[in-house]
Amino acid sequence: MNIDVPNLETKSVQRSIVGRGIAHDSAARHVAGEALYIDDMPELPGTLHAAFVLSPVAHGRLRGIDAGAALALPGVVGVWSAGDVPGANDVGPVIPGEPLFAEDLVDHEGRVIAVVAAEDFETAYRAARLVKPDIEELPPVLDVEEAHARKSYVLPSQTVSEGDAAGAIAGARHVFSGKLRMGGQDHFYLETHIAYAVPGEGGDMLVHSSTQHPTEVQHHVAHLLGLHANAVECQVRRMGGGFGGKESQATIIAGAAALVAARTGRPCKLRLKRRDDMAGTGKRHDYVAMWKAGTDEQGRILGLEVEYLARAGNLPDLTGAVITRTLTHTDNSYFIPNARFVGHACKTNTVSNTAFRGFGGPQGILTIEAIVDTIARKLGRDPNEVRRINYYGDETGDVTPYGQKVEDNRLVEVTDAVLASAFWQERRREIDEYNARSPVIRRGLAMMPVKFGISFNLTSLNQAGALVHVYLDGSIFLNHGGTEMGQGLFVKVAQVVAEVFQVDLEMVKISSTATGKVPNTSATAASTGSDLNGMAAFKAASAIKARMARVAAEHFDVEEEVIVFREGRVHAGNESISFGELAKMAWEKRVQLSEAAHYATPKIHWDGRTMKGRPFFYFTYGAAVAEVAVDTLTGETRCLRADILQDVGSPLNPAIDLGQIEGAFVQGMGWLTCEELWWDGKGRLRTVGPSTYKIPGSRDVPPQFNIRILDNQPNREETIFRSKAIGEPPLMLGVSVWLAIRDAIASIAGEGVAPELDAPATPENVLRTISGLESARP
Ligand code: MTE
Ligand code: HPA
Ligand code: MOS
Repeated sequence: MNIDVPNLETKSVQRSIVGRGIAHDSAARHVAGEALYIDDMPELPGTLHAAFVLSPVAHGRLRGIDAGAALALPGVVGVWSAGDVPGANDVGPVIPGEPLFAEDLVDHEGRVIAVVAAEDFETAYRAARLVKPDIEELPPVLDVEEAHARKSYVLPSQTVSEGDAAGAIAGARHVFSGKLRMGGQDHFYLETHIAYAVPGEGGDMLVHSSTQHPTEVQHHVAHLLGLHANAVECQVRRMGGGFGGKESQATIIAGAAALVAARTGRPCKLRLKRRDDMAGTGKRHDYVAMWKAGTDEQGRILGLEVEYLARAGNLPDLTGAVITRTLTHTDNSYFIPNARFVGHACKTNTVSNTAFRGFGGPQGILTIEAIVDTIARKLGRDPNEVRRINYYGDETGDVTPYGQKVEDNRLVEVTDAVLASAFWQERRREIDEYNARSPVIRRGLAMMPVKFGISFNLTSLNQAGALVHVYLDGSIFLNHGGTEMGQGLFVKVAQVVAEVFQVDLEMVKISSTATGKVPNTSATAASTGSDLNGMAAFKAASAIKARMARVAAEHFDVEEEVIVFREGRVHAGNESISFGELAKMAWEKRVQLSEAAHYATPKIHWDGRTMKGRPFFYFTYGAAVAEVAVDTLTGETRCLRADILQDVGSPLNPAIDLGQIEGAFVQGMGWLTCEELWWDGKGRLRTVGPSTYKIPGSRDVPPQFNIRILDNQPNREETIFRSKAIGEPPLMLGVSVWLAIRDAIASIAGEGVAPELDAPATPENVLRTISGLESARP
């Protein structure tokens, strides 16, 4: 059944559940330790535990595997590798040809070579260390610039181009150029990758996987085992964080667990220790950006060329789409009439990088913000003014370099509001005065806007399904294709269903995502979870409600329009029955109380060949002001205060959204300040745990942290209750912290100098930038 989505504002019932700041459905269970993660599930008798054998070297020919010592260890059940896969040894999420187990080549340190299973986890882990792969070492390529020089890419390069960038730069009053290196980022979810595979009869396989993409796990497990998709079910109740890290690469873990289960006929659990998770699975892509801009006297950008070298690692994975998002976010909030943005997917002997919150957007936005900041400083102008004259708008233009019109521009509104609420002018003056009398500790202040496109930039992924049942007691069962990773998707979609039926939220049972209930879903990613699944659930619930309303109209002998669902009851004038009574009545009349619905995002299209189209259903807007202190002797930095204003349309759940904004900002700040991935000269990742890889802690959260949601601004587009996506966009507001560090360093140099700061702004990089200032003085 296909139900048209009614105009949401004119619904006759008042909203009571959607829009309320309701706690995460598992909040109490999370803090009490009662929320069940896969590792907490009661184990079935005969369960095996598995561990990976990972390559100790970055590059080499795999001549053989000596598993003798491992197999001799008591408790070890078996060792399996590429040759043991009954189907296809391939987990390529976009492009086939990405082996789960290394075949004749190992192409990064941490490459999965084999899986070992034993009666208990410690034995499996110990045995995995006893497996000796025979590898003839080859010289690795570790540097993206080296890969670029050799034209060694995992995919063809991509270009977004509009106008004549080279011509505009050549004719410009001022020309600036630079090179920016930005680091990657580990997801550092609290729950590392895990899967629990349970064999069924006739070769069937049930896989509990910590994945953002159950359908992909289902399909890849089927391919690996040589089964049809209908023989495999994937279930996910929740993840202990995903952040993009479980969008594609959960298939590696689920696939290996399923292989062991299939080969032994016993349930198998594979969970990665933190060090194996960090060495063996991908991260945010680190980039080098080389740019050249031509501007007028005021700093208006007339032409811009940017060339990106993205570290894909050994395989494509999602790198193509990540680069597309970088190229479609290099404009951020700025109209660039002549643009040429090129992205190369550099092949290196490091782990295949993958989705990470923002999905290439952060790299594009950091780059353009560095460019605008550089232009302003070199011209001796106020960075905020240079930003503003370049904003999309009537005076500049409103078409992005990739051809999408900016139709819902809220840039000036969010900027003005955040500058005012942060007391920009007063604090700017105060900080300048402070710096004038403080030689060692310098403070910095910066504002930046974010415009982020919502939709998967691959049009076909923008669809979702939901399944809703109403039982005879009036309780409701909800299932949809979205997964819960802590972001609050489940409570939001439950709110939507409770809103439709006008029943208490407690009446809606949230259930595990399962490929057997809602099929052929997309990853929960691109911040689209609530837009897509919320709308599918709305359609399913609305269809059942319409049928129930007909039953009620018959019962009360009134027109259907008179029937009102309110506060758990169904009313016709002064008469009413409970929702449960109506459900029972509908059943007696043999009316269907279950519905599966599907939603596909309208209005979007994308031509991957010309890199033009309308890839995003809409944009979200936000702005942040950050203040930092920099110790110019040690290079240490601290964010003292952050003020954020974020557009979320009409929020489904502002409490959840506030949490998302807080978390995303701090995660973005971490990317740009303390989180540093470090490989040694042989390509071995040496930051594989919390002792060497520093994620922000509670004391890194700005002590003054003022977050506001833009009031009363429903989405122009018909999204679910006119809400907007929230999961990723505020991560990029963390760029304000990096800009504030630049501002603090610039106060040492004085007018006309733009500090050349790489990201992350670790103490080492800050000191390097400060010591480089002397040579930069004009
Ligand atoms: N929030 C929490 N707590 N944990 C996570 O793993 N992932 C982020 C974001 N917020 C994440 C999170 C990422 S990368 C995305 S794409 C979105 O949530 C996905 O969920 P949504 O589409 O429902 O917003
Ligand atoms: N975000 C996350 N995952 C994706 C996207 C995206 O924009 N496009 C394709 N996969
Ligand atoms: Mo989020 S990077 O799109 O999973």
